[in-house]
Amino acid sequence: MSTVVRLEDVDVSFGTRRVLDGVSFSVERAEFVGLIGANGAGKTTIFRVVLGLLSPDRGSVAHLGRHVGYVPQKVVIEPDAPLRARDLVALGIDGERFGVRMPSRARRARVDEMLESVGAAEFADARVGTLSGGEQQRVLIAHALVGNPPLLVMDEPLANLDIKSGHEIVELVARLTKERGLAVLLSAHDMNALLPHMDRVVYLAEGRAVSGTTGEVVRSDVLSELYRYPVRVLDVDGTVVVVGGHDVQVR
Ligand SMILES: Nc1ncnc2c1ncn2[C@@H]1O[C@H](COP(=O)(O)OP(=O)(O)O)[C@@H](O)[C@H]1O
Ligand SMILES: [Mg+2]
Repeated sequence: MSTVVRLEDVDVSFGTRRVLDGVSFSVERAEFVGLIGANGAGKTTIFRVVLGLLSPDRGSVAHLGRHVGYVPQKVVIEPDAPLRARDLVALGIDGERFGVRMPSRARRARVDEMLESVGAAEFADARVGTLSGGEQQRVLIAHALVGNPPLLVMDEPLANLDIKSGHEIVELVARLTKERGLAVLLSAHDMNALLPHMDRVVYLAEGRAVSGTTGEVVRSDVLSELYRYPVRVLDVDGTVVVVGGHDVQVR
């Protein structure tokens, strides 16, 4: 395995409040990792640390290369904004190189190929703000990946999608992970859509993280220890429900 990003013993505090407390985990090449935690658990803070936007108070972050593909939590593009899907993807190329512009034909081919591989070719010329949530996610993924980063981080990409679109996005990300040998860290407050596809889970609670396969982590004993409070992991017709503590994940 080859490690693309590794956090070791990371602490982050805002004022007197410790939001991350000794967080350690890594993401390997061709690995799809789900970062799971309730609202306010610290998921976005972890992304800011991974992206180098926030320096931890303690601990270290090691990267294979600086370049990270990023799909932020909230992207609002007005329907009238004159920005086509292909324009947004092309911006991902411009951000990446050291002032050496690709010839326009090569750029166009690269953008078309990227749109195709995320299933967005048919709306390549539509205004991004007029697309559905799932379609916009595809375009944002293409934007994040067009420069070929080794690591893709996605902050709650499923939060505003219906269940079917959410499953489609997870399937797409799982396929891209394997096809491109990407390391992927994708956050969610509900892990159910990720269960069939994620290779590993990093579960965040009380500022602390535990990582492993879902079988190792999503267990009453492991999560009770993490929460320092008795929680129960229930399987309700194939849907995982974590009950108790400060976090009730039911849908
Ligand atoms: N810049 C900041 N200043 C103060 N508190 C913050 C800041 N950023 C995040 N927090 C707090 O840290 C906690 C974790 O936030 P966040 O990482 O956004 O959680 P999540 O993404 O899991 O919902 C929250 O309680 C939030 O209010
Ligand atoms: Mg967040």
